[in-house]
Amino acid sequence: MKMVQLIILIVMIAVALFLVLPNLSWAADDGAGLYKAKCAACHGVDLAGKPAAKIPSLVSDDAKKASDADLTDAIANGGKDKKPMHAFATKGVTPDQIKMVVEYVRSEQKK
Ligand code: HEC
Repeated sequence: MKMVQLIILIVMIAVALFLVLPNLSWAADDGAGLYKAKCAACHGVDLAGKPAAKIPSLVSDDAKKASDADLTDAIANGGKDKKPMHAFATKGVTPDQIKMVVEYVRSEQKK
């Protein structure tokens, strides 16, 4: 293979990766996707919670009153009582991802 062809090939692979990779990570890294993966099992896909199982709604008036800092702490560390089913900071969820989930919950609360 000629050098020029090889360089063109490498550039094409680089461009293809550049196009594909951000989309792949975006799928797992947007707030809605994270919510579905990490929270929906308990709080429901519609964020309404499961009253029978004492899982609170995330779109209730109470939830709307909580500050971003409260939500972040509840998700990352389980809040003041360190509730173990949360504490996502110790389960591989990064601070950026928690922020995205908080933003997603906020956007759903406005609906
Ligand atoms: C294993 C089930 C489970 C999962 C998974 C879960 N939660 Fe919860 N969550 C609960 C329960 C149960 C409560 C009520 C805790 C209480 O008040 O004793 C709660 C409470 C909350 C609260 C209210 C604040 C508080 O701590 O009382 C928020 C906000 C919340 N969850 C957000 C989330 C988000 C966002 C996720 C995903 C990142 C998530 N939860 C994942 C079960 C879960």
